[in-house]
Amino acid sequence: MISAASRPYIDASVPVLREHGLTITTTFYASMFAAHPELKNLFNMGNQVSGVQQQSLASAVFAYAANIGNAAALGPVVSRIVHKHASVGIRADHYPIVGHHLLGAIKTVLGDAATEPLLKAWEEAYTSLARLLIDAEVKMYAEAGVQPGETRSMRVLDVVRESDNVIAIRFAPESGELPPFRAGQYVSVAVDFADGHRQLRQYSLSDAPGKDSMRISVKREDGGAHPAGEVSAWLHANVKAGDLLQVSHPFGDFLPDTESDEPVVFLSAGVGITPMIAALNRIAMVNPQRRVIFAHAARNSGHHAHQRDVAAAQARMPHLHVVTFHEEDAAAGVLQGMMELNRLPSWPRGETDVYLCGPLPFMQAQWNALLAAGAPAAKLHREVFGPDLLDNLL
Ligand SMILES: Cc1cc2nc3c(=O)[nH]c(=O)nc-3n(C[C@H](O)[C@H](O)[C@H](O)COP(=O)(O)OP(=O)(O)OC[C@H]3O[C@@H](n4cnc5c(N)ncnc54)[C@H](O)[C@@H]3O)c2cc1C
Ligand code: HEM
Repeated sequence: MISAASRPYIDASVPVLREHGLTITTTFYASMFAAHPELKNLFNMGNQVSGVQQQSLASAVFAYAANIGNAAALGPVVSRIVHKHASVGIRADHYPIVGHHLLGAIKTVLGDAATEPLLKAWEEAYTSLARLLIDAEVKMYAEAGVQPGETRSMRVLDVVRESDNVIAIRFAPESGELPPFRAGQYVSVAVDFADGHRQLRQYSLSDAPGKDSMRISVKREDGGAHPAGEVSAWLHANVKAGDLLQVSHPFGDFLPDTESDEPVVFLSAGVGITPMIAALNRIAMVNPQRRVIFAHAARNSGHHAHQRDVAAAQARMPHLHVVTFHEEDAAAGVLQGMMELNRLPSWPRGETDVYLCGPLPFMQAQWNALLAAGAPAAKLHREVFGPDLLDNLL
């Protein structure tokens, strides 16, 4: 993957990158967007403002450097990146642009420390990672039968209020077949704003595959002290039945096994319930006898989305165990407070797959509690509604 001559430079630069990584990627984005303003339509500029995207690219560079020879550790990270890249439409010809500005930023930030051999080593490392990603992405587009960046016009069938801040949008292709997908996958929705800029955001499909329409559920990001979320606020304010939405092919590697007979556990919080509902609805369709623990935490009853889906699944699934936590109120049958592992029914930790989705602090808390309770990491699966900080590699 990388030559013997370059390896010592890569190994030696890992601590340096850890120290300067965030500055390097911030400098990189500034110079790349100055030279290629059209790429702003591809990137999530909300993540740019809040700094998460810079953090994530820095993390990817560190992770790659730290694990350069370790394909097993890099595998899941690469998988997540290529699905995200395919969803937003990254092409092979984008890579030299990113490479040029990333190496330029390393050079600017490291100054004299960026020696010729060190830069050469990083060029080689970048090229080899780019090759890996390009090949995987080409394959993914071919399998999906789409061109990079292709979106389809979807006719909105209905918009249903799911909670105080979540709407569910159901849609179907204006023409042709519904694209195939699996529970847990997401689409990118493209919004073209009046001033000509375009933004893409990912939304998990929130209903089971195998129907004649698809559904997403969008939380309005109010922002509080910050500006409201650009795309979610726009969707809430504008989308109505009959409209057309531009939607990517479904991608994503968070794939709860909905087809097996084994017991399974879903733990979600907030709008993280969306991929879990897709999985639950699928299981209710194909295997209603399955043993399922479905635990969800919401701020209060007003913020608790998809209660109708859960009730419908409960009516069909005799072995579905639903546990609900509300932080601020506690209606009958609801536990008050945050989700805690010791308040859930127990399950054989070693053999049961657990799927997690929710805000990062929620997932970190559950992940650590599950590991401490004896669940092997290989049985834990998570979806992150933002750039994954790749902390498992750092
Ligand atoms: C795989 C995946 C699946 C997802 N599934 C879902 C889903 O099912 N449902 C769902 O609702 N979302 C989902 N998301 C999240 C979704 O993609 C968007 O990130 C979300 O809707 C916010 O986008 P936005 O354009 O509204 O906000 P953005 O404009 O991107 O802003 C992001 C946040 O930053 C805040 N912000 C804005 N300006 C500033 C500033 N100056 N300083 C600090 N903060 C600021 C905003 O208030 C907002 O909270 C998913 C994401 C991923 C990656
Ligand atoms: C070796 C090169 C690259 C690496 C290591 C890399 C790494 C990453 C990582 C870690 C993420 C976040 C994944 C997540 O959601 O957890 C990401 C997302 C993304 N990448 Fe890349 N990437 C590379 C090349 C590129 C190129 C060439 C482009 C195109 C110009 C690009 C554009 C994007 C975009 C648009 C996103 C989605 C995030 C957002 O919406 O802002 N990347 N990449």
